[in-house]
Amino acid sequence: MFSPYVVSVPVSGAVIIGKDLFGKDVSIAFTPNAHGVILGSTGVGKTTLAKSIVVDLIRSGFRIIAIDCEWHWIEFCRRFGFDIIELDKVVFDPFCIRSSDELEVIHNFLIGTSLFNLSREDVLTLYDVCSKVFERNGAVSFNDVISYCPRYGGLRVLLKELEFFMRGKQIIDLDLLNKHILLQLPVGGDTEVHRFIIYLFLAQLFAKYMKFITDTPHTFVFIDEAHRLTRGASQFLVWALRTVRKHGFGLWLISQDPHSLDRETYSLTANAILLPGPRKYVDSLKAYFRLSDEDEELLLSHDRGYGIYIRQGVGSVRFRVKVHEEVLT
Ligand SMILES: Nc1ncnc2c1ncn2[C@@H]1O[C@H](COP(=O)(O)OP(=O)(O)O)[C@@H](O)[C@H]1O
Ligand SMILES: [Mg+2]
Repeated sequence: MFSPYVVSVPVSGAVIIGKDLFGKDVSIAFTPNAHGVILGSTGVGKTTLAKSIVVDLIRSGFRIIAIDCEWHWIEFCRRFGFDIIELDKVVFDPFCIRSSDELEVIHNFLIGTSLFNLSREDVLTLYDVCSKVFERNGAVSFNDVISYCPRYGGLRVLLKELEFFMRGKQIIDLDLLNKHILLQLPVGGDTEVHRFIIYLFLAQLFAKYMKFITDTPHTFVFIDEAHRLTRGASQFLVWALRTVRKHGFGLWLISQDPHSLDRETYSLTANAILLPGPRKYVDSLKAYFRLSDEDEELLLSHDRGYGIYIRQGVGSVRFRVKVHEEVLT
């Protein structure tokens, strides 16, 4: 219903990513929870373009969460004043949501562990251990969980893997994070552990933001090298896209391998930026996008500096990439 007292505030940011072949600006409307993918082969400028977009989003007042496992973002994020979580040095406590609500803690914990395909028995054991730890300490921390269940079969593998990342490190309090955030995943490391950490990190951030829902700026999450997270669990990013959207965030996935993303990923992302790559890459793109001969030619014949922007249900445009100088390394 129309109300003269309600002022609708435009929340979309239009970000220019280049010029079309007639010299007209090509821009992306960053409406809240508009998801996207940036695809292209290695070295073609995916990360650079993403950073350039991030610069504009920051200037338009959006909050950014970057997730990176390659150390390609840290210098940029330092320059732009991000809060940085370097998981080699510090951790956020994945098991303690610092909530006084025991069920909430355990719930998050259990959904997280489901990413490991734990048996029902293991999950019940974990639940049991968590409840006991909680009863005793009023919080659930990883170290406590380890010391309470060191020798449960399937859990042992999980805990061993996680221990490498968690034990004895300084714990960051997510409540202290107020700016843009970089989650710097450790180099190498187990894909499942990365998924687990990302899951709980996002779950905890959502819980935190929900508390302050009124002054939470619109947020875009960028996951670079997203194909590294899908091995053995292509549904993970589908889950992420759905969950993130529920909270009004937009999620942008950057990947060099179109097939590594589940088909459903593409139906959940309204925007796609396709950068060049070799024949094999272009052929795999064709499984998800309708490309004209000119599109194909553009993708095959330029190393860098050109791309195709596709807005689902609207159309596509070939463009010359334009990035901010300050993101070039
Ligand atoms: N539009 C561009 N103009 C000039 N140099 C670029 C451009 N995009 C990327 N580069 C440079 O190319 C190199 C690889 O870019 P990067 O974004 O890391 O590629 P990718 O993430 O696709 O592997 C970097 O040194 C970057 O500075
Ligand atoms: Mg890159």
